[in-house]
Amino acid sequence: MLILTIESSCDETSAAIVRDGRCVLSNIIASQVDIHACYGGVVPELAARKHLESCPVVIDQALQVAGVTLQDIEGIAVTAGPGLIGALLVGLSAAKALAFALEIPLVGIHHIEGHILAPFLETTANISSGTQQLQFPYLALAVSGGHTHLFRVDGIGAYELIGQTLDDAAGEAFDKVAKMAGLTYPGGALIDKLAQSGDPCYFNFPRPMLHRPGFDFSFSGIKTAVLNQIKKLDQPLEGELLTHLAASFQEAVVDVLSRKAFKAAKEHQLSQIVVAGGVACNSGLRHRFSQLSLSTEIDVFFPEPILCADNAAMLAVAGDYYLTRGLTSPLELNARANWPLAKVTGPLQGQC
Ligand code: KG4
Ligand code: ZN
Repeated sequence: MLILTIESSCDETSAAIVRDGRCVLSNIIASQVDIHACYGGVVPELAARKHLESCPVVIDQALQVAGVTLQDIEGIAVTAGPGLIGALLVGLSAAKALAFALEIPLVGIHHIEGHILAPFLETTANISSGTQQLQFPYLALAVSGGHTHLFRVDGIGAYELIGQTLDDAAGEAFDKVAKMAGLTYPGGALIDKLAQSGDPCYFNFPRPMLHRPGFDFSFSGIKTAVLNQIKKLDQPLEGELLTHLAASFQEAVVDVLSRKAFKAAKEHQLSQIVVAGGVACNSGLRHRFSQLSLSTEIDVFFPEPILCADNAAMLAVAGDYYLTRGLTSPLELNARANWPLAKVTGPLQGQC
């Protein structure tokens, strides 16, 4: 089945054309980062207005790059939530209008469902620590600007929540620490770059919840510890000192995420871990998970970076699965700002 997918949950407008839920023919992403950087975070109304401009453009480009026309499209999958409501409504309205006009089925997909199924897409650059193909069941760590969640994934539409952050998401902590250090928004990738030349043991930041039972996380304590450390410095936060701060902060986050994820996988007898979402681009996180994979029987799967950040192609795995089984959403489909993934058992239906 040839499907068009549309993602607009936050500050990236994206459209993709994917065949059979596996083969990515195009995956166009228009980032709004320049618009929001000067505000230090995403401004919801500006995001929605920019999606309105970018949506037709990315859809046109996705068709062109894939070498297909709208008449070739057999179904549409769109992010229906969670996310910024105004932003979601733009992509959803575009998807509904096209589905109606082309008389093809529509399905609303959960944003995190898209992220944690992304390693099934066939691209040359998806990273796996072993030679095995990814199979159900597996443990998924969804780490993004809005989520830090551990799920047991038994199949498409079968997600059990194992743990989650009790306060900030890991990406949010990266962005806030970057802001404290005078870096621009979003700061995750900048911290990652600085950390590569810093000493991860220079500052000793806490590892909250690490030794508590269960698999929940907390990142606000690490963030506060970084703020207190910055206030105590008797020299400007720049040069080598800035790299040490970035490396020590990143080390604390990576330590907590990796140790909890491997413990959860062992306890739930899962031999595969998928790490997905924007923070899965982090080089320190990728390195640590790969190292731990070598010393355990657990294989680790990272989507390639373009499929970790927000993108439309990732919606195609669940989208194609549902559409080919006739599991569709009605044209009255509404967007959901809040939508727990563990409640997803199929396509979103109607009103929120
Ligand atoms: O999944 P995503 O693109 O959007 C959301 O659904 O939130 O994730 C964005 C988050 C931001 O917080 C960003 O700073 C973070 O992912 N991020 C990173 C890196 N690249 C993006 N965090 C750490 N290291 C990176 N290399
Ligand atoms: Zn995301």
